[in-house]
Amino acid sequence: MTTRVLAISGSLRQASHNTQLLRLAQEHAPDGVEIVIWDGLADVPAYNEDLEVDPGEAVEGLRAAIAGADALLFATPEYNHSIPGALKNAIDWASRPAGSGVFLNKPVAVVGASSGAFGAVWAQAELRKVLGATGARVVDADLALGHAPERFDADGGLCDENLRMELQEVLDTLQLVTRAREAIAA
Ligand code: FNR
Repeated sequence: MTTRVLAISGSLRQASHNTQLLRLAQEHAPDGVEIVIWDGLADVPAYNEDLEVDPGEAVEGLRAAIAGADALLFATPEYNHSIPGALKNAIDWASRPAGSGVFLNKPVAVVGASSGAFGAVWAQAELRKVLGATGARVVDADLALGHAPERFDADGGLCDENLRMELQEVLDTLQLVTRAREAIAA
C-alpha cells in the first residue's frame, strides 16, 4: 500500500532551500512512499475566525489536501527565531473549525533549512509544538540544514552524504510510523 505524503514548505521563495529539500525528498522517496508538494501557501489569506466555516478555495484546498494525505512533511525556514508567518497562518486555518480533525492523529515530520548555522532549529521546535497542539502526531526525526546556500550542488542535490542519509531516515521514520498507525487502525 502506498503512503501518500503531503509536503509543505514554509518558504514562498522561488529558489527556496526548504522547497528544494522537499523536492529531494520527493525524488528519493522510499519504496511505497509518494510525496506531493503543496504549492498553495501564497494564496492563503490572513486567518479570520469570522470566515472559518466558509474560508474560500485556497483554505478549502489546503484542508482537503491534508485530509487526503496519510502523513505530512514540513520543511521550514526560520524567521526571527520562529516559524514564518505564512506557514503558521496556514496551519491555523487548517486546524479549524475546532475538532474538524484534518490534523488529528496525522503523522508529521519536520525538517528545516536556514542560511544561518543552526538549520532553523528554533523554528522547527516551534513548528513541532504548534503541530502537536493541532492533534497531529509529530514523529521523532529531524534534519537541520545550516548554511543552506552552501549545502546544495549545481544540480540541486545535497553535497553531503550524511545529510542525504538524514533526509532518508526522516522519510523512513515517517513511513514506519504511518504504517504502524494504519495497522493499529485496521
Ligand atoms: C531570516 N533568516 C534567518 N535564519 C536563521 O537561521 N535564523 C533566523 O532567525 C533568521 N531570521 C530571518 C528573518 C527573516 C525575515 C528572513 C527573511 C530571513 C534567514 C533564512 O534562514 C534564510 O533566508 C533561508 O534561506 C530561508 O529559507 P528558504 O527561503 O531558502 O527556504
